[in-house]
Amino acid sequence: MIGRLNHVAIAVPDLRAAAAKYRDLLGAHVTEPRALPGHGVTVVFVTLENSKLELLAPLGDASPIAAFLAKNPAGGMHHICFEVPDIAAAAETLAAAGARVLGEPQIGAHGLPVIFLHPKDFDGTLIELEEVKPELLPA
Ligand code: CO
Repeated sequence: MIGRLNHVAIAVPDLRAAAAKYRDLLGAHVTEPRALPGHGVTVVFVTLENSKLELLAPLGDASPIAAFLAKNPAGGMHHICFEVPDIAAAAETLAAAGARVLGEPQIGAHGLPVIFLHPKDFDGTLIELEEVKPELLPA
């Protein structure tokens, strides 16, 4: 069902400082910050040769990562994202197997449908699935 690792997301208390660290110290390409009010986060992407990192900072009062940062004030790994070819089929298969799919598919940070799976069903790790059509992948 799952394909490539699309990204690893890290919640950070200071997005500017974290972005500067990856850009200036680690020498990676880092995108400009993008506010995603619908998701309650501001993100930058660190582009790696084989994958991406998503650095997340809270946006607004009801940010879904505020509680995570309250528990992990220095920041920490928040979720990992795998690519799937068909998100509706993946959600159906997982729900039928008893995994908790959190809500309905939403449009994620890359403009593609995403869903999240409950961390208690995946060894304490929040899983994001992103629909990436196989025909859009580089050969
Ligand atoms: Co993500």
